[in-house]
Amino acid sequence: MRHQYHPLGFEGSRIAQGFWRCHEWDMSVSERLDFILSCLDLGVTTFDHADIYGDYRCEGLFGEALAKKPAMRDKMEIVTKCGILLPSESRPDISVHRYDYRAKHIHESVDRSLANLQCDYIDTLLLHRPSPLMDADEVAQAFDLLFTLGKVKHFGVSNFTPAQFDLLQSRLDAPLIVNQIELSPLSLAPFEDGTLDHLQQHAVTPMAWSPLAGGELFRGNGDRIVRVKEVVSDIAKSMKVNFDQVVIAWLLRHPSGICPVMGSGKIERLASVCQAANIVLSDDDWFKIWITSQGHPVP
Ligand SMILES: NC(=O)c1ccc[n+]([C@@H]2O[C@H](COP(=O)([O-])OP(=O)(O)OC[C@H]3O[C@@H](n4cnc5c(N)ncnc54)[C@H](OP(=O)(O)O)[C@@H]3O)[C@@H](O)[C@H]2O)c1
Repeated sequence: MRHQYHPLGFEGSRIAQGFWRCHEWDMSVSERLDFILSCLDLGVTTFDHADIYGDYRCEGLFGEALAKKPAMRDKMEIVTKCGILLPSESRPDISVHRYDYRAKHIHESVDRSLANLQCDYIDTLLLHRPSPLMDADEVAQAFDLLFTLGKVKHFGVSNFTPAQFDLLQSRLDAPLIVNQIELSPLSLAPFEDGTLDHLQQHAVTPMAWSPLAGGELFRGNGDRIVRVKEVVSDIAKSMKVNFDQVVIAWLLRHPSGICPVMGSGKIERLASVCQAANIVLSDDDWFKIWITSQGHPVP
């Protein structure tokens, strides 16, 4: 279950586990530790974080569990993000919800993430969202220093357009290895706006956030969602597999080597989608989902 598409870039698992919602999981430290160990047992070794998740608390919840078994660190890849400033009771220094890619903020954010995660390096640091004020030269200098200090091994971005990605890459010696973007049968834009083509061209791994549309594919009841649910259910029934497995197999089928970042805290749900790696959707079934989500036939 290793991610083999880009052997020189992203060295994570085929499917990653996200911790955005982990403050809602109501787990004790030992339950969190068990959850992480079970992820590792499933071959899910890539864990996705951001400084701001859970009002700046989620990295710390993960770090608390990691500290119970520090030997786990070598068996996993930690992805985290920086760059969003979120006003919060725990951060009285922040007054405006905005972005900050000044070197000072990047360094301070990484230091806070390392302290919260209770580890001494981050495998991949992502810039969380593009900012009109991002100075690519200043970011490049910050990345160089973080790499030299051994604090961060690889760098990437999230929610960047191809042009924003190219601008930053043009100032860096090492390749950006990830662009984490919203992708699911309900979020098709990156398939058509050049984002996935661009990543494939440069052998950069797309990580898909909210690959089950943040649960909308289960809870939602709008016309489009109901249509997509129906077609996915029919395919799942005919293949004798689960609904969520079809959705994830649909993403894995794309030639760019998408790495879905799952968000449930229920280990049985992660175990289910891990089986998607063994399912190959036919082109007919892939296009049935595509056409149904688009709401019209291909031209
Ligand atoms: N880069 C970015 O800007 C960005 C933005 C958002 C998220 N992310 C990353 O992406 C990760 C995943 O996002 P996500 O949580 O939205 O992903 P997701 O896996 O699409 O959605 C998770 C939601 O779906 C529900 N769900 C999953 N399987 C289900 C099932 N079989 N039946 C019913 N409900 C089900 C979960 O409920 P339960 O918890 O009850 O299972 C949870 O509410 C985050 O943790 C974060 O790491 C990144």
